[in-house]
Amino acid sequence: MSQKLIAVIGATGQQGGAVVRALQASGQFKVRALSRNPSKHRELADEVVEADLDRPKTLKTAFEGAHGVFLVTNFWEEGTDELKQATAAVRAAKDAGVKHFVWSTLPNVEVISGGEFDVPHFTGKAKIDRIVQEAGFVNHTFVIAPFFYQNLVGALAPQKQADGSLGWALPLVPAVRCIHMGDIRELGNIVAGAFAHPDQAGNGEYLPLVGDFMSFNEIIDTLNRQGHEFSFKQVPKEVFAASFPGGAEVANTFLYFQAHTYLGSDSYDQIALANKIAGGQPSKFSTWARVNVPVQGS
Ligand SMILES: NC(=O)c1ccc[n+]([C@@H]2O[C@H](COP(=O)([O-])OP(=O)(O)OC[C@H]3O[C@@H](n4cnc5c(N)ncnc54)[C@H](OP(=O)(O)O)[C@@H]3O)[C@@H](O)[C@H]2O)c1
Repeated sequence: MSQKLIAVIGATGQQGGAVVRALQASGQFKVRALSRNPSKHRELADEVVEADLDRPKTLKTAFEGAHGVFLVTNFWEEGTDELKQATAAVRAAKDAGVKHFVWSTLPNVEVISGGEFDVPHFTGKAKIDRIVQEAGFVNHTFVIAPFFYQNLVGALAPQKQADGSLGWALPLVPAVRCIHMGDIRELGNIVAGAFAHPDQAGNGEYLPLVGDFMSFNEIIDTLNRQGHEFSFKQVPKEVFAASFPGGAEVANTFLYFQAHTYLGSDSYDQIALANKIAGGQPSKFSTWARVNVPVQGS
């Protein structure tokens, strides 16, 4: 039997990269990695093809002959209009005869919070769900990426504080358990599982990756038990919002987590299904941190 071809947007990034690796590891699929710069990533997958969500014409060739498409949009890339990009991708996938469309979405903060928190990188993705749903693919699946563990060594790495300590100053009550987190490299197992089991996960199911559910105090306690000496200081929203470009968006995100949790509801059943489809439990934060947040000088 010939392997089904899956076209992966964002293949050079964290989410799409995870999807490429998991599809390859499954041995069940042929993988077409998509990038705006295919020549820079020739070795990424069986095929590497140009795709630019801002140039819908490129999507025709990108999706041609594909059984499935994985789509992630990058809110943080300057000039990105997630709705416009996703609409173009859905249309192109339908035109190309794609059977199974997997969209990396996030909860609708506007609905969950009754309009209290404006978090466009969540709500903007949620509003795309309907477009995917109504497109009429034979199968479609929603995956939900968690707060990446990787944020804590990347965009939200600990900073030197005024008292000389290394740690976090965030607009968040640190005792509130509210962050659904995970190793984003493990998102691929869920996506590959969904493509392999459309009967169980291809009927509009929501599949969140959740390795741990923690408060910031628990995050810091875990790291400090491993030998770190990180600090935490709660700061007013306004102070945090002014501290870097995009700060207001991130501040609102934390305030939303605190009020409603990251996923916004009890997602026990969805998480259980995601783990079943992935074929195992995702890594706990402590396991990931031991390897990825090394203690300096040890
Ligand atoms: N950090 C978190 O905790 C978190 C949690 C949940 C969701 N998210 C969401 O994750 C998304 C980013 O995903 P990521 O972290 O996997 O991204 P990433 O590692 O920053 O990589 C971005 C990817 O997007 C592709 N891309 C960007 N613009 C494109 C365009 N116009 N056409 C085609 N491809 C394009 C890039 O491909 P090329 O450069 O190769 O073209 C690259 O592969 C954001 O929307 C964010 O809201 C983040």
